[in-house]
Amino acid sequence: MNVQLGIQRFNPENDAKPYWQSFLITQVDPAERVLDLLKYVKAHVDGTLTFRHSCAHGVCGSDAMRINNLNRLACKTLVQALARPNTERVPIRVQPLLGLPVVKDLVVDMDPFYEHYRSIIPFLVNEQEAPGRERLQSPEERAIIDDGTKCILCACCTTSCPSFWANGRYVGPAAIVQAHRFIFDSRDTGAAERLAVLDRKTGVWRCRTVFNCTEACPRDIDVTRLIGEVKLAIAQGPRRAGRVR
Ligand code: SF4
Ligand code: F3S
Ligand code: FES
Repeated sequence: MNVQLGIQRFNPENDAKPYWQSFLITQVDPAERVLDLLKYVKAHVDGTLTFRHSCAHGVCGSDAMRINNLNRLACKTLVQALARPNTERVPIRVQPLLGLPVVKDLVVDMDPFYEHYRSIIPFLVNEQEAPGRERLQSPEERAIIDDGTKCILCACCTTSCPSFWANGRYVGPAAIVQAHRFIFDSRDTGAAERLAVLDRKTGVWRCRTVFNCTEACPRDIDVTRLIGEVKLAIAQGPRRAGRVR
């Protein structure tokens, strides 16, 4: 298999604006991943190519990028999944995530993303006296937050959301997923504070139910549903929404 790999390049020290660079890579195994192609270019063609990656197995969330116009993890995107019938060369175009400042090539500045994450108090809050053993949770209570616990903070959701592109002050779907994970945790008592943050102008009401976030999530989290549950908890009050202690 041959691949025509287009990469959006940008070095703020030398370039006035981003530009596309194209690489023909031959004899690619269809089971190789886009991350393998980027590593090949960096090792054998152009050592200045800059991108993030770490685990290479879909766990750390560091290699999220825009691949053929969709947000994906480069380490989970196989070349064969991007192949088109009857084309000699598989066309692959790789860009940095949208909506965050580009630091260099495929690396974006994640600080604004993490600021939103921090704003929703992303840790368990419980100031009641600790029990002698751990705070127990039933399987049913755990199931309610199960989806959100799978989040790897890759930012694929937030950076595919038109509301976030239009206004970077919107906390974005990833922060709401993380908030949901604690708001509906039976051991947590910080729900009211988180819901107040998400009831602001920059909170959940900026979500227009576009569903890009759900489609982009590499962990198959039902992001839009979780956002809907948080909206309901604000509208009806946490207790009436049925899951918040
Ligand atoms: Fe990534 Fe999904 Fe978490 Fe969003 S919800 S940050 S897409 S893992
Ligand atoms: Fe954006 Fe997802 Fe809502 S794409 S508008 S956060 S459903
Ligand atoms: Fe860790 Fe892809 S390198 S998720």
